[in-house]
Amino acid sequence: MSSNSPSTGPGAGASGGLPAHVAIIMDGNGRWAKARHLPRVEGHRAGIRAVQETVETAARLGIEVVTLYAFSTENWKRPRSEVLTLMGLLKEYISAELDNFVRHNLRLRPIGRLDQLDPSVQRQLDRAVEATSACTGTLVQVALNYSGRQEVTDLVRSAVEAASHARLTLEQVDEGWISAHLATRGLPDPDLMIRTSGEQRISNFLLWQIAYAEIYFTPVLWPDFDRSELIRALLEYQQRERRFGGLSPQGVFTPPDASHADP
Ligand code: FPP
Repeated sequence: MSSNSPSTGPGAGASGGLPAHVAIIMDGNGRWAKARHLPRVEGHRAGIRAVQETVETAARLGIEVVTLYAFSTENWKRPRSEVLTLMGLLKEYISAELDNFVRHNLRLRPIGRLDQLDPSVQRQLDRAVEATSACTGTLVQVALNYSGRQEVTDLVRSAVEAASHARLTLEQVDEGWISAHLATRGLPDPDLMIRTSGEQRISNFLLWQIAYAEIYFTPVLWPDFDRSELIRALLEYQQRERRFGGLSPQGVFTPPDASHADP
């Protein structure tokens, strides 16, 4: 697996290739259920099918990393019954799909403030991480009790602590150091971020890491996001021209060649 941010450097880019890292804000479960006069929980349950189809497709295509926003730090504000349902579904999903993960060579890595999750969820996650640790295919990162600002706050706190014990100097802190100390350390930054359900926000997801990501918004609700929707997003990504703050090759200013200039 490539290490920090190779996909953010000049020269990397879409240009017909596949993204190394796809991050997804899975939104619209509630509206999907509402449209069918079903309880919200049924939307989340249907969302699990979309999760499995997405990660299996990513594995077949050879995408290096998929990061799924499953539960934000703000999601605790939801009714307790919905929070419990989401955690229950996560546990169900892991126990039902663990064999499939291994079969598809998928490795699981949860990110976020995991120590604040229910111990039963933590145990299930530990089990899944252990069971998939030898898998070498797509890395599936599941963001749980995660927020980008929280991640940066934690990083700054640990940096201040290290500095106060003389384990970190000002000169050591640069962009590479920060990337290497985030939850996503060791991974390429997302090349493509997808948000379903028509909302056009980032909602505190991977704030540092998406500096140069291509953003793809689709009106499709998460439970309806299937293989063909993922491929549609990838095709759109391939049409994008990634310049990383520079210019496109056609746009690069080349000084006039003096030898051909009129006298
Ligand atoms: C947003 O829909 C979705 C979530 C907050 C949770 C996503 C969770 C899953 C898809 C299931 C479990 C995940 C994994 C990785 C197994 P919403 O409820 O905000 O929808 P709405 O905006 O239409 O109300």
